[in-house]
Amino acid sequence: MTENPLNIDFIAGAVDYRRRFGGGRRQSLPKALGFRPGVTPSIVDATAGLGRDAFLLASLGAKVTMVERNEAVQGLLETAMRRAAKESDDHAEIIARMTLVKGDARNLLPKLQPETVLIDPMHPPRDKSALVKNEMRQLRALVGSDPDSMELIEIALSVATKRVVLKWPRRGSPLDGLRAPSHQIIGKSTRYDVFMTGPATVSQS
Ligand SMILES: C[S@@+](CC[C@H](N)C(=O)[O-])C[C@H]1O[C@@H](n2cnc3c(N)ncnc32)[C@H](O)[C@@H]1O
Repeated sequence: MTENPLNIDFIAGAVDYRRRFGGGRRQSLPKALGFRPGVTPSIVDATAGLGRDAFLLASLGAKVTMVERNEAVQGLLETAMRRAAKESDDHAEIIARMTLVKGDARNLLPKLQPETVLIDPMHPPRDKSALVKNEMRQLRALVGSDPDSMELIEIALSVATKRVVLKWPRRGSPLDGLRAPSHQIIGKSTRYDVFMTGPATVSQS
């Protein structure tokens, strides 16, 4: 069977479903990033990938700067963003909140002076959905396994003024040498390790 080429679609399919029926701000991802009633964080997504998380966060009102270092993935993101912006006013509004920055987040994060950073490096395939599995396998074939993600996290921790969120498999072992998170939000197959970084780390959510 021939395989569909890797594609990013912000208009239909799983991304659209999650936007419309996923649970909005009550989902683990926005909670981990500090969305609260009346509070919508500005986010740097240091590992943009297929842009699914970034699109969801932008659909919830956040300004999202997406950093991606792989050229092929950058091209897919640009095409998907152009297509979505033409789809409807609602989509155009979401895309207007998303900015793609091309390059390695390890170099770019200090210049971006982020408040809140999301890091979702490649990790072992874990999702039961055949479609997602397939997409992640194709993405892995393009980008490899992100062996430098520990360095990326350390840089993020040193520059983020509010928090860093690491998206990781629910049962995945902590990365070697990484400090314990301030708190965790645990979903069905994914957990979010939240590291508070700012001076006001007491009043967290
Ligand atoms: C697992 S995917 C992210 C999936 C994304 N959260 C989504 O919702 O589609 C990881 C992506 O991060 C990118 N990446 C990893 N380390 C990076 C770095 N230091 N700078 C920029 N991009 C990076 C990889 O090229 C890959 O495309």
